[in-house]
Amino acid sequence: MPERSSNLEIHRDRSASRLSHPVLGIAMEAAFQGARRLVDAFQTEVDISVKGAANFVSSADLAAEQAIVSTIRDRFPEHAIISEESHRDRADAESLWVIDPLDGTSNFLHGIPHFAVSIGYYERGRGKIGVVCNPITSDWYAAIDQQGAWHNGIRMVVSRSERLNQAMIACGFYYDRGKMMEATLATLADLFRAEIHGIRRFGAAALDIANVACGQYEAFFEYRLSPWDYAAGAILLQEAGGRITDCSGYPLPLGAPSSVCATNGFLHPALLEQLGRHLRNFELDETH
Ligand code: IPD
Ligand code: CA
Ligand code: CA
Repeated sequence: MPERSSNLEIHRDRSASRLSHPVLGIAMEAAFQGARRLVDAFQTEVDISVKGAANFVSSADLAAEQAIVSTIRDRFPEHAIISEESHRDRADAESLWVIDPLDGTSNFLHGIPHFAVSIGYYERGRGKIGVVCNPITSDWYAAIDQQGAWHNGIRMVVSRSERLNQAMIACGFYYDRGKMMEATLATLADLFRAEIHGIRRFGAAALDIANVACGQYEAFFEYRLSPWDYAAGAILLQEAGGRITDCSGYPLPLGAPSSVCATNGFLHPALLEQLGRHLRNFELDETH
């Protein structure tokens, strides 16, 4: 599909032109290569395997991951990689890439054009580069430590809303269909009682966090995510002026799953308080 590919190219160049870091070019190129595989496979027949209840992996996830990893490996063979479908190197490595080749697999498989490639680059645990892109809409989000965050060439800044009754909040449901799902629903009810403007559940955590960074939502939460879901988004959000922690307020790990509370910063204490009420109702299994 040549038109989609050329759109992808335009935005990739516009985002990159505002930022400079020796690893940024490869991060963008790797995301671009992954995105191309997803564009090619979208709305075609793909092979699907079941990882767990409502949790799938397709040949598109694997093709995108292979393209991303080989782009990075060609240039930086010594760097460590954590990627959803294949690599589990050490999270405290000197140079570490954390990759979700297809965030929003359920959307992808249902023909919903809301999914992303997500790539975070870390040095000794500190986020250096975050790149997230939706290959279908050609939205590119990129950030560099201490240089800012950009969406299609436009500087990203979080919203300035300070109260829950001014907030649009995005959320996610983990694959759990028991207590964690019930806690998420109970949290949503409490948030509505706090008179938030609305809840959105779009199905791709990396884009959800990027959209908090853009100021579209005041906050996003999910009671369980994996490092590849938030590694890139965390850098985007921090560089856009927001805050991201687990649902108890602790820093997010790169080597283990975690709950996630991502906000514009102003709403962080209020959202943590709301989430905290429900944490005791299920096993979070987090070590701080
Ligand atoms: C999923 C998406 C979804 C979130 C799930 C994630 P995947 O990632 O980010 O929005 O609710 O918890 O696992 O499996 O599509 O890469
Ligand atoms: Ca994901
Ligand atoms: Ca994925």
